[in-house]
Amino acid sequence: MAAGSLVEKITKLKKERKAVILAHNYQIGEVQDIADYVGDSLGLSIQASKTKAAVIVFCGVHFMAETAAIISPQKKVVVPDVNAGCPMADMITIEGLRKLKAEHPQAKVVCYVNSTAEIKAESDICCTSANSVKVVQSLKNAQEIIFIPDKYLGLYTATKVKGKKFIFWEGYCPTHARILPEHIKAAKKQHPLAKVMVHPECRPETIAEADEVLSTGGMLKFAQESAAQEIIVGTETGIIHRLKKENPNKKFYPADDHAICPNMKKTNLEKVLWSLEDLKTEVTVPKAIADKAKLAIEKMLEIGRQD
Ligand code: 13P
Ligand code: SF4
Repeated sequence: MAAGSLVEKITKLKKERKAVILAHNYQIGEVQDIADYVGDSLGLSIQASKTKAAVIVFCGVHFMAETAAIISPQKKVVVPDVNAGCPMADMITIEGLRKLKAEHPQAKVVCYVNSTAEIKAESDICCTSANSVKVVQSLKNAQEIIFIPDKYLGLYTATKVKGKKFIFWEGYCPTHARILPEHIKAAKKQHPLAKVMVHPECRPETIAEADEVLSTGGMLKFAQESAAQEIIVGTETGIIHRLKKENPNKKFYPADDHAICPNMKKTNLEKVLWSLEDLKTEVTVPKAIADKAKLAIEKMLEIGRQD
């Protein structure tokens, strides 16, 4: 079906269903362009908690839709592709987390939102890449922090927080892990006037080459506010669409053309339409887990952004 008629159908059905379309910054351009709101994980969670819509079509990955379902249990949350998961979220098990907690009974558990509802339910507070430092700093009386599941976001956060011991989980994002320092060095050589921004899911050696370490929302803000005319972008390449759209006179270079999250690319316009048509791909979370996970998410939402 032609993209034009798909967009018309989606727009019409969206009204009939009283639906809102939320899309992550890594979604393909066409999906970003039909969304009511495009943002980072924190921004999307805030939108999901505020919307008056009856249905949320969540264009992202599973944990994001699950988070929306937890904070807005009275709304129907559907996903265009039920197989769009996040490998990092699947790198931690509930048994592993419980063992770590038993080994460190005084520690507070800070859980990156890129995790399952079950893991969030077992945690003290959630964070995203836009507020991990602020979240850890909010735990004033905690000497020890169990940071899960992203060891790289954890390591980066630990460099910004004084006086706390961090215990990490061996999880990581396969898409960001492939952005290597040599990619940044080569891009800098090719574009010597460019600023470098990278996501905190990158390796420490990659982060060491950057001028700015930001969530995807932070990157969009930096691109608009900075005087830099050229920016090397160390994150999933889907963000380039919005960076170019919002800054038509600036130049953006992906640090690594291959930094593509296959799960973020599973959503397309046809699947968005189908999910609105049949509303069958609903994401739900058992109440007992959702109630506990909600506490950890709400604590994070009270803290807001750092970038
Ligand atoms: P943010 O958009 O919150 O920075 O997160 C990146 C990410 O990997 C989401 O899966
Ligand atoms: Fe998960 Fe990485 Fe894809 Fe984000 S980019 S959804 S962290 S695999």
